[in-house]
Amino acid sequence: MARRALITGITGQDGSYLAEHLLGQGYQVWGLMRGQANPRKTRVSRLMSELSFVDGDLMDQASLVSAVDLVQPDEVYNLGAISFVPMSWQQAELVTEVNAMGVLRVLEAIRMVSGLSSSRHNGEAAKNIRFYQASSSEMFGKAAETPQRETTIFHPRSPYGVAKAYGHFITRNYRESFGMYAVGGILFNHESPRRGAEFVTRKISLGVAKIKLGLQDRLALGNLDALRDWGFAGDYVRAMHLMLQQDEPADYVVGTGEMHSVRDAARIAFDHVGLNWEDHVHIDPALVRPAEVEVLCADTTRVRQELRWAPQVDFASLMTMMVDADLKHVAAEQEYGGLLAAGSW
Ligand code: NAP
Ligand code: GDD
Repeated sequence: MARRALITGITGQDGSYLAEHLLGQGYQVWGLMRGQANPRKTRVSRLMSELSFVDGDLMDQASLVSAVDLVQPDEVYNLGAISFVPMSWQQAELVTEVNAMGVLRVLEAIRMVSGLSSSRHNGEAAKNIRFYQASSSEMFGKAAETPQRETTIFHPRSPYGVAKAYGHFITRNYRESFGMYAVGGILFNHESPRRGAEFVTRKISLGVAKIKLGLQDRLALGNLDALRDWGFAGDYVRAMHLMLQQDEPADYVVGTGEMHSVRDAARIAFDHVGLNWEDHVHIDPALVRPAEVEVLCADTTRVRQELRWAPQVDFASLMTMMVDADLKHVAAEQEYGGLLAAGSW
């Protein structure tokens, strides 16, 4: 019988790649969808006709219990979150509700549907529902060491990072308290042509496309010196799946092990279309964060050795892939008056 997976955050970048990957592995896949007419449903359902949807919201415990009960999943991937770090200073309470308490609610839904009692320590899960939590390298924040590995202490620098640290620890706690197969994947930045336009790589690739096509001339950025370990989202969802296929549950750091600056990202993207980034990029101090994470780089030893996972797309290929996709998107938007681009990635 086909294995069943439930994904929260199905309309996001990772949700779409993970659903494609799991469908390709023969899974039946349900995506948790919030809102009565979520405008992002179209773009994900257009990619995958076999995908099913179930209503629910990470803010609503009962909806999560209903969703888990209805789907009866073998695996739950909690990718839903407010994922844009700057928003977490503007709406810290909301971000904490979704990104921290939301994790607890999904774990509780699994515990209730599984029939695990709160007094049953280290017992076998009545129904073995495996759980993946989308933890983040933002938890390392003001990093205690570089590169960062599974044992590096957390020093989050944003309400987003603090909420993710709660989600990570509550996942570990449910593993230790109830014997659940529950893991946190500590993923470093991963991007794609489906990345939200608010994140720096996509902001750059869209900006480059618009400048190349004569629609704008300048691109405002913040801290050009920030260093990140950027990989391709399509590679990282394979690691998520592998983490739920092991004999024993464990947390893993997932990244490429290489770091680049925001300046590098801009240079590669502009070079790709024959433009000089310095002619177009200007600094907007308003885009500099109240507490910046300066350096993130993964120590990938454990994920490579134990999961036999390795990224396949390097940083330059990632940036040029995104620029090429955005040249097509922006050209289509011009031709069809925005109709195509609005519903597509
Ligand atoms: P994304 O594109 O921003 O997608 C976020 C998803 O969360 C969307 O589907 C959104 O659905 C959903 N969501 C937001 N609030 C919700 C709520 N109250 N209830 C249910 N769903 C809700 O993020 P992503 O890049 O795919 O990242 C996936 C996960 O990995 C996130 O948890 C993120 O924090 C984490 N992460 C990402 C990276 C990265 O570099 N991409 C690295 C480490 C960790 P709507 O359409 O309804 O808004
Ligand atoms: N967004 C943005 N826009 N970032 C900029 C800009 C700009 O104009 N200019 C410079 N940056 C810098 C930010 O200050 C940050 O240091 C870096 O570019 C990356 O910013 P984002 O792309 O917004 O990603 P992030 O690192 O804050 O967070 C992403 O990765 C985390 C994992 O480390 C998100 O996907 C998080 O959800 C994820 O957990």
